[in-house]
Amino acid sequence: MIDLQKLPFADNALEPFISEETIRYHYYKHHTAYANKLNELIQGTEFDKMSLSSIIRDSDGAIFNNSAQVFNHTFYWNSLTHLKLNPSGKLLTKINNDFGSLEALKEEFIKAGTTLFGSGWVWLVREPKGQLILRKTENAHTPLSSGLVPLFVCDVWEHAYYIDYRNLRPKYLEEFWNHINWDFAGEAYEKTDNDVFIGTEVCNDIHDPFCQILDDLQNGDRVTS
Ligand SMILES: [Fe+2]
Repeated sequence: MIDLQKLPFADNALEPFISEETIRYHYYKHHTAYANKLNELIQGTEFDKMSLSSIIRDSDGAIFNNSAQVFNHTFYWNSLTHLKLNPSGKLLTKINNDFGSLEALKEEFIKAGTTLFGSGWVWLVREPKGQLILRKTENAHTPLSSGLVPLFVCDVWEHAYYIDYRNLRPKYLEEFWNHINWDFAGEAYEKTDNDVFIGTEVCNDIHDPFCQILDDLQNGDRVTS
């Protein structure tokens, strides 16, 4: 059974960027529905006693879609903050090295989010060999399936922005950029800043830095039965 992780901020903390009304739908209805549906689907199956990351790696169809959406949304909420933060330290150095500048990353991010057709996600990820790249995934797809380490993610499904921005996805992306939780991204980066290959194996090694990120994220998602 998977427990839905609580929001890391108050329901109105992100206003006016994201309204409390959007949170009421996005977290309390959409995200909650994915978790409830997943638990319904895995009840009595081999997935029932597995961690969320293991379910994502080992499933397909409806179980994959719902488990990936639970993880993707949890990562999205952790990617956001009402504090005005900026990247620093090793992560900022790496961004400057791989993208040229923070401004260049922002431009690429806005372009990626604007050009993603339909529903999906835009991620800043770390490749196994260390390079930072932007990755678009469609529908429920997640970089966890490709051995990529996510640092932040933007939800570009319409339910993420339509109440507050209607069809103006670029405006939502601009505001998202101003609310990125760079402390979270920096922590995720530093925990995986080594040469250990981040593979797609089941997350059961406490020395695997990727597992550490998942463990931190999934305090509420641990197997409870
Ligand atoms: Fe969403």
